[in-house]
Amino acid sequence: MKAVILAAGLGSRLFPVTQAVPKPLLPLANRPTLAYAFDRLKEIGVHDVCIVVGQMEAAMRDALGSGRAFDVRLSYVRQTEPKGLAHALGFAREFVGDEDFCLYLGDAVYSTGLVPAAEKFRAGRAANVNLVKEVPDPSRFGVANVQADRIVRLVEKPKVPESNLAMAGVYFFRSPIWDVLPGLPPSARGEYEITDAIQALVDRGESVLASVLDGEWFDTGTLDSFLETSRFLTDNGHLFGESARVEGEVGEHVVVGEGAVVRVGAIRNAVVLPGARLDCEGLVERAIVGGNVVAPSLVNTIAYGTQTRVA
Ligand code: G1P
Repeated sequence: MKAVILAAGLGSRLFPVTQAVPKPLLPLANRPTLAYAFDRLKEIGVHDVCIVVGQMEAAMRDALGSGRAFDVRLSYVRQTEPKGLAHALGFAREFVGDEDFCLYLGDAVYSTGLVPAAEKFRAGRAANVNLVKEVPDPSRFGVANVQADRIVRLVEKPKVPESNLAMAGVYFFRSPIWDVLPGLPPSARGEYEITDAIQALVDRGESVLASVLDGEWFDTGTLDSFLETSRFLTDNGHLFGESARVEGEVGEHVVVGEGAVVRVGAIRNAVVLPGARLDCEGLVERAIVGGNVVAPSLVNTIAYGTQTRVA
């Protein structure tokens, strides 16, 4: 089995940091976010990975290269315009060929492995098996109506959800997916939705199954969710890169990258990127900081160099 990781998004909810560092490379517990995806894929025996990148292609290739440092074999394809997840997947057609594959959304981090979902897929002949997870706010996601194990209907961001089972960012496919992609109409938000592609499989009478994730699912796309994931991955502790220097009062949940120099009044619940310089007399709290930042205080803020944004 191969894997396709979708990592072309702009990460606009984490601007300005993601204008300098692509979101899939942002450090979580001082490893790039995608390192966790590679771990999960290797656990299910997948080492051949194609990353669909966007305009940050050069930075992604520079940082991840052949994948050798992560014990995976990486190829890259470029999504030319941001037109949705099904559109992004189309660029990986040649890489996948006729093999089975796992589609993984690059900003997802899981507390448990994907082994049960992968086993369900491998054990049967279903065209598609999807990771789903109960959530309190299904309207933000693709939502699956599941009868026994089968997905009978799927709706992207429904106003009135038919269940609380969200599509949770990992999908296993056999080759029928390639038959439905070309005929897909754009959705109301003008994108080609992976949810609609899977619904098209259901409509064709293909077997489409759900596998409920028995663990936590983190999406790292917002300041809140990024800091939450960081806290989880550091066991709610601190983590300072070996050559990092930190002066000031250090409260709960602080991660400081390799080579960063931090001088603060106080800092808590924050992530400072590798190589950053942070000079802040006051409080740094609920913040992601990169580059060279001088500020009186940073609360609820994403900062890179002279650019800051209150999230
Ligand atoms: C995408 C998918 C959605 C899925 C979600 C998981 O939504 O379209 O079906 O539930 O990822 O994070 P997006 O985050 O692109 O709005």
